[in-house]
Amino acid sequence: MSTQLTEPEQRTDESTTEQPAVEEGEESEGTTIPEWATESEESPGADDDESVRITVFRYDPEVEGKQEPHFDDFYVPWEQGMTVLDALMYARDQFDPSLTFRHSCRQAICGSDALFINGRQRLGCQTQIADLDTPVRIEPLPHREVEKDLVVDMQHFYEQMDAVDPYFRTEATEGGEEQRQSRENREKIKMSTRCIWCGACYSSCNIAAGDNEYLGPAAINMAYRFVMDEREEETIKQDRLEIIEQEHGVWRCQTQFSCTEVCPKDIPLTEHIQELKREAVKKNLKFW
Ligand code: SF4
Ligand code: FES
Repeated sequence: MSTQLTEPEQRTDESTTEQPAVEEGEESEGTTIPEWATESEESPGADDDESVRITVFRYDPEVEGKQEPHFDDFYVPWEQGMTVLDALMYARDQFDPSLTFRHSCRQAICGSDALFINGRQRLGCQTQIADLDTPVRIEPLPHREVEKDLVVDMQHFYEQMDAVDPYFRTEATEGGEEQRQSRENREKIKMSTRCIWCGACYSSCNIAAGDNEYLGPAAINMAYRFVMDEREEETIKQDRLEIIEQEHGVWRCQTQFSCTEVCPKDIPLTEHIQELKREAVKKNLKFW
């Protein structure tokens, strides 16, 4: 059994949610909300200067009583510089070891902790609690199957990335010397190389939500990174352009900018997609 979250902004009607709506702090059948997580006056530091309430999506298909999606509240002691990931780790370590989420580097490098925080895709380790409205609502990335709590299935996202052949390919130079890249060219592709495969952009994209085959902004950006690299072989460039100009490629983008807005590495994704559209048109222009 699995479940999938859709973005609240995109649901004007709660009935479109693919899971039963549960009010914050409400107890679902068979689910035990811990004592310290209640909103009573006696709750330790509830929403005061010293603690912060995080409201976390919970779902576990393998544990009886947790198979219904619901939210649990945790009150976490707040300190300057605390990130959403810090708060989640505190909640897991101090209150509920079954709370499940991905993380690794804690410095916006590995891309494993992209989450839906207060209604927007963000990295948990890059998001300061101090910058958010409270209680902080933490959900798994929308439009992906939820495996457990905040962990979603990223397999399809990785397959879309693989589809553009995300490897540098070039002809060996005579004598095997290294290939130089001009400063201008490096500058041009610099932002596109910053992708950390977090999937935030893909999760934010309405087109990807409706078309499972759409390559998505991250994969197209990956193609851009190589197509625009002056060192890549011309025939490979043409092959890449063929991949991204197919039915579920660049032309599906409707320039909504949601990907660009959420990308934690500030990659101008929409701009890159538009530039590849122009390259695809140029490739097919014929002069008689
Ligand atoms: S393009 Fe940005 S949002 Fe998308 S996967 Fe890469 S880093 Fe994440
Ligand atoms: S933990 Fe690696 S990007 Fe956040």
